[in-house]
Amino acid sequence: MTITKIWEVKQAGEKQLRMELSEAALALREGGLIAFPTETVYGLGADARSTAAVERIFTAKGRPSDNPLIVHIASRRQLDELVRPYPKLAEELMDHFWPGPLTIVLPVRPEALSPLVTAGLSTVGIRMPDHRTALALLAQAECPVAAPSANRSGRPSPTLAQHVLEDLEGLIDGVVDDGPTGVGLESTVVELVDDQTVRILRPGGITLEALQQAVPAAQIDNAGLGEPELAPRSPGMKYTHYAPKGELELICGDPEAVAAYIQKGVAAAWQRGERTGVLAFEERMERYKADSVLSLGSEDELEAAAHRLYAALRDFDGAGAQRIWAEGCQEHGIGAALMNRLAKAAGNRIIRL
Ligand code: TXA
Ligand code: MG
Repeated sequence: MTITKIWEVKQAGEKQLRMELSEAALALREGGLIAFPTETVYGLGADARSTAAVERIFTAKGRPSDNPLIVHIASRRQLDELVRPYPKLAEELMDHFWPGPLTIVLPVRPEALSPLVTAGLSTVGIRMPDHRTALALLAQAECPVAAPSANRSGRPSPTLAQHVLEDLEGLIDGVVDDGPTGVGLESTVVELVDDQTVRILRPGGITLEALQQAVPAAQIDNAGLGEPELAPRSPGMKYTHYAPKGELELICGDPEAVAAYIQKGVAAAWQRGERTGVLAFEERMERYKADSVLSLGSEDELEAAAHRLYAALRDFDGAGAQRIWAEGCQEHGIGAALMNRLAKAAGNRIIRL
């Protein structure tokens, strides 16, 4: 059992933030495991060059070792040490989206990182988070920081420091608490197929539409989205993820039919004596009767829904829900990432009406 320290930095000014983070940064440099906020979700950081430190990430999370980690940097100057030459297109993506929720898979420089980070691949996913506390911590740690989401493997990603503690207290050295994260879903992971083609491996904070606008000359290959199970080019996509403890089903299609289907399911579950949950949009909340009915907000405000998703999935656990139904949404913009996470949480139990 490790004592997990908590550094509260919500109100800290610039100078105080640096002071508060010095202990956490030192712990990272010395092989510690430190959870920290980013603009997407809380990450669980370790020195990406140290195999002993990175090994602790996999142990604390219970993460399969064939699932590589994203490396976080505070400045583009760190890149040359980590990766081999890459196409101009990657640089354009960095110019547009860094700092920000875009992870770019690049050819790794041999020996630059622990082989555990890349899970033996010849590439590494790198991102520069758009979050003042994350950037300050990364700069002070003066090392590339490998950081998966700071949850136990398979659980919803943490959007609050409290979620990190629920999963990992006693297993990690500390958490930097800077309140709720922004986007609420993880970064978009992309690879470059060639000089002109960007392939989305995991939809996330940077939308397909934003990518298309930023690099209009590039082709954006969005194939990974539809059938992630058939195309596990991003190894993480093949595992059940983000799941609450209850069995979740994702219901898509005509809102009336969806509501009727769900209500029938709840009635049947109640007959079996099961506790039920419904995850719905504000527009139809009053349609549902279940042990817990949680709202993601309006279906016209999917950014806000994304921000709430993981906390809601955790709330179902708190309520002891055994069977959960979630309404689907449009797949435009952040809706693509939201639907991807819901489908994963449902272990691909998706009903289309
Ligand atoms: O927003 C995020 O990306 C958060 C925060 C903490 O930065 N991190 C995160 O890490 O979501 P994680 O480990 O939960 O997800 C990493 C994803 C996995 O799906 C993994 O398979 C993929 O990125 N990935 C990492 N390196 C890769 C590589 N070299 N090639 C393909 N996919 C890679
Ligand atoms: Mg994760």
